[in-house]
Amino acid sequence: MPAYRECIVSSGKVVVLGIVCADVIARPVNGIPERGLLVPIDQLELHTGGCATNVGIDLARLGIACSVLGKIGRDGFGDFILQTLEQEGVDTRGLRREDGVQTAATVVLVAPDGERSFLHCLGANAMFVSEDVDMGLVRSADILVVAGSLLMPKFDGEPTAEVLRGARECGTVTLLDTAWDASGRWMKSIETCLPFCDYFLPSEAEAAMLSGVTEPETMAASFVAHGARNVIIKLGDRGCLLRTEDGVIEHVAAPAVSVVDTTGAGDAFVAGFTVGLVHGWDASRCAHLAVTVGAMCVTATGASSGVRSFAETVQAMERGGLM
Ligand SMILES: Nc1ncnc2c1ncn2[C@@H]1O[C@H](COP(=O)(O)OP(=O)(O)OP(=O)(O)O)[C@@H](O)[C@H]1O
Ligand SMILES: [Mg+2]
Repeated sequence: MPAYRECIVSSGKVVVLGIVCADVIARPVNGIPERGLLVPIDQLELHTGGCATNVGIDLARLGIACSVLGKIGRDGFGDFILQTLEQEGVDTRGLRREDGVQTAATVVLVAPDGERSFLHCLGANAMFVSEDVDMGLVRSADILVVAGSLLMPKFDGEPTAEVLRGARECGTVTLLDTAWDASGRWMKSIETCLPFCDYFLPSEAEAAMLSGVTEPETMAASFVAHGARNVIIKLGDRGCLLRTEDGVIEHVAAPAVSVVDTTGAGDAFVAGFTVGLVHGWDASRCAHLAVTVGAMCVTATGASSGVRSFAETVQAMERGGLM
């Protein structure tokens, strides 16, 4: 028997806080139409996006009920996000709606060769502040995941650190994932947060910008020196590097897959790692589950379409590859 239990953790046990977004995906797009002209295209679809939304939906698909905390506007995109999260079984009590603010949205232009370009409106994510955080939900959670740090200008840095600290005081395990920092502040924002991170999970490119070094082991050492307990550097098709609080380094390879779309791979990885923690696994086994969920994600179009059930994912992990 595999060493896991099939369980649905009750709502509120995992809280995912971060950016929430709607994605309008247009394909195929050869370029911006000439001024005043209409160009017909084959497909125009509306999807949920944003790190917190993606992690929340991935957790639900892996059998873990969770709450998503973030901010949306009172508009059609906001209605769509709320409705989708609820359909997926994600608790939305902590999602704030603010009048006069637009829900964050991205227009994704997909070229015929699959290359993507983005037009993004920060919208409500730029207005997210610590007063929006339902600390009751955070304090009663077993796990807090902050997803999309560095993309919330009024919440990044000190306010994030305060929420992580409050969570830790109540015994909540904390995870922090970053996004590309358009403000260029990088370590200035993150260093106050690291002492309150049980698990810090940046991507390789973000870790390089934060640490100023290029070698994953050295990056991890620098985050530990700033106070992070465990560090996981996501390395794309090379899997991840894990450095545990005991100083043990492990490189976990990614299963080989045919890549269709890498959107949401980082979020799928974080969801997989979190699921392992919920099941009481050690960091190494969590990282193995994380690379499996990440690999499943990239086999299908969209942030969460490739994410499968917990049982299927564990089977793939134990086989050492996807079917
Ligand atoms: N081509 C791939 N093949 C197998 N696994 C992959 C591939 N790309 C990504 N993954 C898995 O997904 C994880 C996260 O991907 P990546 O390192 O690109 O994170 P990220 O930059 O945070 O992603 P995102 O842009 O979605 O935020 C990787 O650590 C790996 O386990
Ligand atoms: Mg990422």
